[in-house]
Amino acid sequence: MYKLSSKPLISKAELSERVNSLAAEIAAAGEFDILLGILTGSFVFVADLVRAMPKANEKGMRVKFFKASSYGDSTESGTLTVSGMENLDLTGKRVLLVDDILDTGNTLYRLVPMLKERGAAVVKTCVLLDKPSRREAPIEADFVGFKIENKFVVGYGLDYADDYRTLPEIMTMEEV
Ligand code: IMP
Ligand code: MG
Repeated sequence: MYKLSSKPLISKAELSERVNSLAAEIAAAGEFDILLGILTGSFVFVADLVRAMPKANEKGMRVKFFKASSYGDSTESGTLTVSGMENLDLTGKRVLLVDDILDTGNTLYRLVPMLKERGAAVVKTCVLLDKPSRREAPIEADFVGFKIENKFVVGYGLDYADDYRTLPEIMTMEEV
């Protein structure tokens, strides 16, 4: 059993400040043709990130999503299910793959080659949160918002069994 922490791990103000500086880091690294968000956890982060990247949008960076889930109703990693990638034309494109959190790394480690197989010229990865202590696959993200300790987090798009996604701050789940 888990319960929600009483105070945020990352506040609204911290999120907003870091998302803005991250957008600037990404913009400084070059242009991307497509930002690909991984559903469902990245939806809030992507929405804030693209609005902090006005230049990218002026130049017509496309925003697309597909679904990848590796979590059932628990906090442990499971099998990866991918859908919605069939219709993505990535031929010769510079792709920024965005997820909410890099945990074991198994998800991004498997998705990056899939995007390259679909013709992407460049695939860079961006995550809001990174839990380096949990890593199993040999992967690091190119752009990281915050490195955090090994705690299960929710809010700002992240869920626990599909709950808590709409919380505006990053909260932790504590075992009771
Ligand atoms: P990975 O494959 O273990 O790196 O897991 C990545 C996915 O697991 C993310 O896209 C999240 O959906 C989910 N995940 C990992 N840690 C957390 C967490 O602390 N809270 C919510 N979701 C998480
Ligand atoms: Mg996810």
